[in-house]
Amino acid sequence: MSTTLYQKIQAFYDSSSGLWEEIWGEHMHHGYYGATGTQKKDRRQAQIDLIEEILQWADVTGVEKLLDVGCGIGGSSLYLSKKFQAQVTGITLSPVQVERAKERAVELGLQCQAEFLVADAQNMPFADNSFDLVWSLESGEHMPDKAKFMQECYRVLKPGGKLILVSWCHRPIDTYPLNTSEQKHLQDIYQVYCLPYVISLPHYIAIANQIGLQNIDSADWSEAVAPFWDIVIDSTFTPKAIFGLLRAGWTTIVGALSLGLMRRGYESGLIRFGLLYGVK
Ligand SMILES: C[S@@+](CC[C@H](N)C(=O)[O-])C[C@H]1O[C@@H](n2cnc3c(N)ncnc32)[C@H](O)[C@@H]1O
Repeated sequence: MSTTLYQKIQAFYDSSSGLWEEIWGEHMHHGYYGATGTQKKDRRQAQIDLIEEILQWADVTGVEKLLDVGCGIGGSSLYLSKKFQAQVTGITLSPVQVERAKERAVELGLQCQAEFLVADAQNMPFADNSFDLVWSLESGEHMPDKAKFMQECYRVLKPGGKLILVSWCHRPIDTYPLNTSEQKHLQDIYQVYCLPYVISLPHYIAIANQIGLQNIDSADWSEAVAPFWDIVIDSTFTPKAIFGLLRAGWTTIVGALSLGLMRRGYESGLIRFGLLYGVK
């Protein structure tokens, strides 16, 4: 992974995570607003509902050892650790996130069953066959080598273990390739959110087949999650959020000013919210 991208992602999350938690809470991912995105609900509840819907979709009813790849401040890791009494490990590129995730584990009394470390998902410091569940919620879009990332997830899974990967995607390109304006729109999103590029859900499925995952399943939940951006946009223009943005610095301000990029991406069908499931 190039040092520049690594440093950019690290700096982005180091500077923005405190503000995100203050305004939006511990979950740094979309919310779930019903299959057609029409349910009205509290934003944090919608984020928890997304986790629960994913678990149900993937038929996960118990876990002993879980790896959260791209764990943020441990939103999913600690939620899942508590729910399943599971041993969890979370990795992120951001030392600030690791420190906060560790603090949160102590606050929740989960420090004996949760560990967090700075590590690169494309080169993980874990032995083969270590985890029952590898969970990656909205981190795949940051990976410059999607195949290497998925191979690593596969390597550390125990035989019979499950991979759940949920990622920002672009629309499938089997019928029409991306046009110039769509490519420009994606470039703007990459720039703001420190992404090397995104791929389509069929591309993730092709990689899953290549690396040997079994029982592969996939879903496009764009409709269910798209309302999230309107809600984030509304909450950004409150005095508390504006003050926090000024403190967090320029990259975070640009991120906030560009929230409309994602909303328009969903509206046009360019941006998709893809889920992938497979078993080792
Ligand atoms: C949008 S946040 C999602 C956080 C968390 N999954 C959640 O839903 O609350 C993306 C996360 O991916 C992590 N990430 C990005 N690239 C990574 C890499 N190469 N290795 C490990 N983590 C990475 C970031 O540090 C950040 O924690």
